[in-house]
Amino acid sequence: MNYRAVERWIGHRFEITRQLARTAHSIVDLAFDHESGKPVVIKWLAPTARSLSPRAAARMFYHEIMMTLAISALSSDNGKNPRFPQFITMGKIKDIPPKYYFVMSYIAGETLAQILAAGRPHDAVRIAQNLCQNVRILHANGIIHGDLHPQNIIVHSQGEVSLIDFGQSRYRYQTVADLAGIGRPGYTPPEQLAGYPIDERSDLFALGQILHDLLDVKNLPSTARHLITQMCQPILSQRRVDLAALQAELADLSSISLPKPLPRRYLTVLVVASMIIIALFYLAFFWR
Ligand SMILES: Nc1ncnc2c1ncn2[C@@H]1O[C@H](COP(=O)(O)OP(=O)(O)O)[C@@H](O)[C@H]1O
Ligand SMILES: [Mg+2]
Repeated sequence: MNYRAVERWIGHRFEITRQLARTAHSIVDLAFDHESGKPVVIKWLAPTARSLSPRAAARMFYHEIMMTLAISALSSDNGKNPRFPQFITMGKIKDIPPKYYFVMSYIAGETLAQILAAGRPHDAVRIAQNLCQNVRILHANGIIHGDLHPQNIIVHSQGEVSLIDFGQSRYRYQTVADLAGIGRPGYTPPEQLAGYPIDERSDLFALGQILHDLLDVKNLPSTARHLITQMCQPILSQRRVDLAALQAELADLSSISLPKPLPRRYLTVLVVASMIIIALFYLAFFWR
């Protein structure tokens, strides 16, 4: 079945602009919401999602929609730097089989995977610090992301980050049979890949791997280095880390590593001084 056969318009409200991504589980389109006048993202359940039965795939998609809805309430949506996408609506296009979708706010920026492909960014410490903050917000609300990796992180200006993709998210102690054993090797911890129940420490493992991608961990001050190493312990019981402590360490580091911008008045003095020097050069040249 060709999903591109979906009309350009979804109802009279959403107009699809272009495809943003296509994975094994979903098709993600950028669209324009003519009601709010803002860009939005429409996520469709891929027809062959995870090679599951259509019924199981639809059930998992519904689970993702419910988690996206719950998590969207945790974003202090000042519109500029949302920590999580805002859920907008969901729907189904009648067809055989039906096409399921949901709509959420579009988060402008680049995925961390795209950024890392060009090397470690200059504001890596700040990105890391914001990542810890977002994961802490989920955990404080009893939610485990369950699928943290660089493609599920969007970085916007000033190192602010948003977490996306809640298809594997769940409440602490919630067992979702369909999700057992699914993950991304390299980021997903061993207990999750093996299908055991997961908790906050499972996110810590994935976050630890991401921090290794982002930071030169072996050259970090010893406390931060120790905390990140602890996060990556394959054995769950040995993975005890206070994320707030790591965030505080990173905050100290970012205040040291990022040069403070010059106050505006110094900039003005600099510009005026350079203009005077240039003018003097010209005068000296013509009077020779
Ligand atoms: N709200 C959003 N804003 C901007 N880009 C998004 C958004 N949601 C998804 N994307 C883009 O689409 C890609 C796939 O979306 P994702 O939800 O991770 O799908 P999957 O569950 O198939 O991995 C992301 O890596 C990102 O590039
Ligand atoms: Mg994803």
